[in-house]
Amino acid sequence: MTAEKKLYIKTYGCQMNVYDSERMAEVMGGQGYGVTDDPAEADMILLNTCHIREKAAEKVYSELGRLKPLKAAKPGLKIGVAGCVAQAEGEEILARAPMVDLVVGPQSYHRLPAMERAVTGGAKAVDTDFPVEDKFEDMSRPRMRKGPTAFLTVQEGCDKFCSFCVVPYTRGAEISRPADRIIQEAAQLVAAGVREITLLGQNVNAYHGHAGGLAGLIRALAGIDGLDRIRFTTSHPNDMDDALIEAHGACDKLMPYLHLPVQSGSDRILKAMNRKHTAESYLRLIDRLRDARPDLALSGDFIVGFPGETEADFEDTLRLVEDVRYASAYSFKYSPRPGTPAAERDQLPEDVKTERLARLQTLLARQQAAAQDAMIGRTVGVLFEKRGRMERQVVGKSDHLMAVHAEGPDSLIGRIVPVEIVATAPHSLAGRCVGDA
Ligand code: SAH
Ligand code: SF4
Ligand code: F3S
Repeated sequence: MTAEKKLYIKTYGCQMNVYDSERMAEVMGGQGYGVTDDPAEADMILLNTCHIREKAAEKVYSELGRLKPLKAAKPGLKIGVAGCVAQAEGEEILARAPMVDLVVGPQSYHRLPAMERAVTGGAKAVDTDFPVEDKFEDMSRPRMRKGPTAFLTVQEGCDKFCSFCVVPYTRGAEISRPADRIIQEAAQLVAAGVREITLLGQNVNAYHGHAGGLAGLIRALAGIDGLDRIRFTTSHPNDMDDALIEAHGACDKLMPYLHLPVQSGSDRILKAMNRKHTAESYLRLIDRLRDARPDLALSGDFIVGFPGETEADFEDTLRLVEDVRYASAYSFKYSPRPGTPAAERDQLPEDVKTERLARLQTLLARQQAAAQDAMIGRTVGVLFEKRGRMERQVVGKSDHLMAVHAEGPDSLIGRIVPVEIVATAPHSLAGRCVGDA
């Protein structure tokens, strides 16, 4: 049966938004909506937005501008803004962009079908509550999944209140989903062909829905036959407990890759950021993780040009990066966000931020290239996910989350294959399949 109506979703921001978009598509599937990748044929368009930096937040308004002709040509078209901009700006979105029909915050997606019905007559709907009922339990339709990898949100929200960050305001207080529901969802995904699951949370290692914390949940998930790889993101250094460090050495299915943001290498700036850890405590934590799993690939997030950051503070960050040797990393210029404490402080000039970001990114790019070069000649397990751009080419990820492409038939997709790495390019490796999975 073909769906009568079409839903187009555009997703910005972090992986949790990617996951939420999938769940929104599933929930609207129950209302007769099929997903389209062409906004022109949509009956409903949802922008799942991000508020983390100013640029991210402004994208939603330029996208709405682009959608104007579509709405003019098809007055019945429903346009919704979801995600963190929806949560942060609420009704203001309707004032700034009157073409928007509904605004739905990240904790209210399960109310989307009712909101869609409410706006059918031309009314507007705004829901930015943090409802007591659990959105995950309401969205209990079976997971749809094409492809061998999937995200699974296990924890949401954040109580850390880093002084630069909007997430505690847009996603609310930390909550953990019960382990049995997560295990059930993981089993559904595996039955649909998924072999790798990435557990998601704004502070995923603060997960407390299992008596053994996140390490306990990982151990329980590792018991699912057919689930071969487990990852998790994003972690806070202060929630990295002994059991989780140990799991990196003890659990074969837990992949040797960890995204562990530090933001700055200067204790003065870390304090001003309200991070509640020091550069030294972070480095000791990395040592312990590498003791548990010597080939662990590390990734991080950095902010440059935070209010008050001096050249000496910035050099502390460069030094920390030199010490850690990251396999990959994300770095950003500080962006003042409305309602956060750091936005009220004296700001650094833009050209200082630009210059520091360029220096940091040069160093991080060199480290990434070194991490990739070190793979040449090694044979690594690659989970192939899809066809490549070339004829008879398949692409996937190694255990260390590096993109790898190799020559091979489509039948390799969904399998973990030993691949010898023969060359590197920016952000990817070229390999040769050796033997069978
Ligand atoms: N919960 C995760 C990440 C949240 S946002 C964590 O705690 O690590 C992802 C990254 O965006 C952050 O790690 C930070 O590096 C960056 N970020 C957050 N707020 C920012 C801001 N106001 N300006 C620039 N970068 C920011
Ligand atoms: Fe934001 Fe800090 Fe929470 Fe991460 S830990 S989501 S950076 S407040
Ligand atoms: Fe952006 Fe919200 Fe994720 S602000 S980074 S979409 S939690």
